[in-house]
Amino acid sequence: MTLEDVNVSGKTVLVRVDYNVPFAPNSTDISDDSRIVASLDTVRYLIERDCRIVLCSHVGRPKGRVVDELRVRPIASRLSELLGRHVAVAPDCIGPEVASVVSGMSPGGVVLLENLRFHSEEEANDAAFAQDLASIADLFVNDAFGAAHRAHGSIEGITHFLPSVSGFLMARELEMLGRVLDDPGRPLIAVLGGAKASDKMAALRNLVSKADTLIVGGGMAATFLLAEGLEVGDSLVEEDKIPMAREIVETARRAGVDLLLPSDVVIADAFSDDANNKVVMLDAIPAGWRIMDIGPRTTNAFAAALQAAGTVVWNGPMGVSEWESFSKGTARMTETLANLADATTVIGGGSTAEAVVTFGFADAMTHVSTGGGASLEFLEGKTLPGVAALMPATDQ
Ligand code: 3PG
Repeated sequence: MTLEDVNVSGKTVLVRVDYNVPFAPNSTDISDDSRIVASLDTVRYLIERDCRIVLCSHVGRPKGRVVDELRVRPIASRLSELLGRHVAVAPDCIGPEVASVVSGMSPGGVVLLENLRFHSEEEANDAAFAQDLASIADLFVNDAFGAAHRAHGSIEGITHFLPSVSGFLMARELEMLGRVLDDPGRPLIAVLGGAKASDKMAALRNLVSKADTLIVGGGMAATFLLAEGLEVGDSLVEEDKIPMAREIVETARRAGVDLLLPSDVVIADAFSDDANNKVVMLDAIPAGWRIMDIGPRTTNAFAAALQAAGTVVWNGPMGVSEWESFSKGTARMTETLANLADATTVIGGGSTAEAVVTFGFADAMTHVSTGGGASLEFLEGKTLPGVAALMPATDQ
């Protein structure tokens, strides 16, 4: 159920958001506020219906301790600017002080509770903690898609104590990512990249039976290339994933799914942004050099294949995209997707979303997920505990 399926008017609503946003190094300047912006529809909807809106989130991984750099105040300030109204900060996320802040709220008021992970009970999914959190509200709205893969107190535990529905951001994420797996415009092209093959194997396994074309780039391609008998120099390879890479290649072959791997690559003689680098064909990677990006021929081949797409889902950069010398493959992939006139383009969160934002093409995509680990687990076909715990639509 979504918040449109219940009567929210005048209620005190606890909204779990994912405001785990990145900060600029050694500062409290938010370097990417996409997750805050993405929550605005839900917050505004509740403001318009005179709710008392109590927002809660984790920030970073403080592991049950109070860490001053991970306080929510800078996030509340940014949210205030975006909403054009004051957002108060509660001194904690549970306890009598929080209860008193909430009981003093006016209709349409917004409070952000302090970082949930200052209490170890949050990650432990402690029932008493969840009950305390629930005690201040009439209704729970989960809009934290990015944290929906965590069975934590504010995500799963709390649903045992309050009627629980999804917010607009959660609903959109589930609709867009769900359509990729269940009802994509065809052909469906899945693009997987990133440094480690082990991170993406489960998603590849799920997508190989659903996609029409699989494109594999990034550092993880080295494991596939090694599985095909090629030398990859000093590239990061996960030997134990070679059998699974072979299995995926074989499944794709049998199912008639095109599996595209790089044909040329940018290599470097050290893992550093100013290392010597050059473009080589795959059979010419010298010892001591490692794959850092896809090469221009590969980029062209991937771009050509994408022109036919009805749907593209992309998770994982094509190279070490945060370093200029090795960002061209990812930049070109971003631009190619942005220019596909008729395709639905769905971008997994985390570093892929960051790349799309950095290269300035986020607005040109159909959907940029706010979830990194959550979108990956969704694409793996896993049930997310935060989603499973919400009231099913059929209960209406
Ligand atoms: C994320 O940034 O992917 C989410 O906020 C989840 O954070 P976590 O990996 O620390 O649970």
